[in-house]
Amino acid sequence: MDMDEKELVRLAKEARQHAYAPYSHFKVGAALLTHSGKIYKGCNVENASFGATNCAERTAFFKAVSEGENSFAAIAIVGAPDGTDTADTCAPCGICRQVMREFCQPEDFKIVLEDGQGGTISMTLEELLPRSFAGESMG
Ligand code: THU
Repeated sequence: MDMDEKELVRLAKEARQHAYAPYSHFKVGAALLTHSGKIYKGCNVENASFGATNCAERTAFFKAVSEGENSFAAIAIVGAPDGTDTADTCAPCGICRQVMREFCQPEDFKIVLEDGQGGTISMTLEELLPRSFAGESMG
């Protein structure tokens, strides 16, 4: 499923508007594209018990998987401190990379980020999480 990277970033920015980040004040949005062309948006949802916080990317994945989706093409991620527009690259954390690995083909799944200069950059999950551990690894 082809979609303009800029459009996917725009949708991630929309999702970021709902970020609940009263502790870090760092707001993140994600827009997850399925192979069938559907979009699932997510934001970070923090908690006073910090470990209960959910990242934007995982919010988007869990929304999608819980609706029966299992085939993903790309995700756009934007993040910045509250009160500032996003522009700098906000790369996904390690836990979110591992969750992506559970549901995506590493060589094909694209991660779209802002490049800090008004444009976008994209890379595969394989580039961000090489030699990964997955279900197949357990034989
Ligand atoms: N955060 C995300 O939503 N995604 C990431 O990949 C990195 C971190 C959130 C979690 C927390 O609410 C805030 O950013 C600061 O870590």
